[in-house]
Amino acid sequence: MRAAMFDRYGPAEVVRIEERPVPEVGDGEVLVRVDASAVGVTDAVSRSGSPWFARLFFGLRRPKYPMLGTEFAGAIERVGAGVTRFAPGDRVFGAAEVGAGATAEFVVVGEHGAIAQAPRGLDAAHAVATVDGFLTALPFLRDAGEVRPGQSLLVNGASGTVGSAAVQLAKHLGASVTAVTSGPNAELVRSLGADRVIDYTREDFTAERGAYDVIFDAVGKRSFGECRRALTAHGIYLTTVPTGAIMLQTPLTRVFRRGRRAAIAFTGLRDSSVKGRELEQLTSLVESGAFVPVVDRILPLDELVAAHHRVETGHKVGSVVIAVSDAAERADSVSEANGAGA
Ligand SMILES: NC(=O)c1ccc[n+]([C@@H]2O[C@H](COP(=O)([O-])OP(=O)(O)OC[C@H]3O[C@@H](n4cnc5c(N)ncnc54)[C@H](OP(=O)(O)O)[C@@H]3O)[C@@H](O)[C@H]2O)c1
Repeated sequence: MRAAMFDRYGPAEVVRIEERPVPEVGDGEVLVRVDASAVGVTDAVSRSGSPWFARLFFGLRRPKYPMLGTEFAGAIERVGAGVTRFAPGDRVFGAAEVGAGATAEFVVVGEHGAIAQAPRGLDAAHAVATVDGFLTALPFLRDAGEVRPGQSLLVNGASGTVGSAAVQLAKHLGASVTAVTSGPNAELVRSLGADRVIDYTREDFTAERGAYDVIFDAVGKRSFGECRRALTAHGIYLTTVPTGAIMLQTPLTRVFRRGRRAAIAFTGLRDSSVKGRELEQLTSLVESGAFVPVVDRILPLDELVAAHHRVETGHKVGSVVIAVSDAAERADSVSEANGAGA
């Protein structure tokens, strides 16, 4: 099978497509024939080994996980002994374990891992685009932010993968949503449900006072210190990006729970079976029309280097999708014909 590989940290060009054996499927596992995968910021970080602290997880001197890719959408090719949740031919989507290598023609996933039946009516390229944003934004908003109906919430980086999911989920949870993005993406975030849009190139939301119960900095561009006064008296600041400051602020502000709080979470490290159940919820939300995919672009597997370059701009609109099979490439022509994507 063809698979995305790399063997040293470096620029996008260290990524190459290689022939590898199709992985064996063990007891309790399924083999997925991948139609579409995605390249996200985490893939770019694991490939570049930067920032340096990422190497504590991905390998200090050289990459521990030479196969790239986490998210996948496709069909069950084969099931291992004892599998009851899936059968060959089922359309599925999900997130493979780190190192399993989902940007490949096949990937093996535990049947109780982060995998679920894909939403009906969505092709693989659009299904895969929903996974990373949803599995990141949901625990931030539901668990760390405890978002409730009627709350006022701001999403910084609202047109990216995580931000576009957060806008939709926050609306679903009943919050009033302010989305921060640059001007050209204002219409998109409004269409996702944002009640108000701030163009960060013209206006600084941190100058507001006592305005938000939750500030979710989906791209880690503003610190707790900068956002503090824009929060209500018991408001919470959430960020996806680790810094020394937030690693201290998270436990300290949790202990002194009376004032404004700050928190970071590491959503990718959660139990896979929990993510699997959340993906079932995502399928329902997509099928009911409450959650839509946002696709920056769909590139063929051979253009994986270009996909990594696009991710590194920090300005993708939703997710960068890799069409692994011809079926997913055809989805690209359909979405272009319909004017979907960026
Ligand atoms: N902690 C965790 O568990 C976890 C899990 C997953 C991801 N992450 C992290 O989450 C972050 C976001 O990922 P992503 O895929 O959503 O990123 P992304 O798609 O690259 O984010 C792009 C968004 O950021 C906006 N943006 C760029 N510069 C900005 C600025 N100066 N101020 C405000 N907005 C700005 C862009 O707006 P314009 O294009 O309009 O400028 C766009 O809305 C990454 O750092 C990733 O590593 C963390």
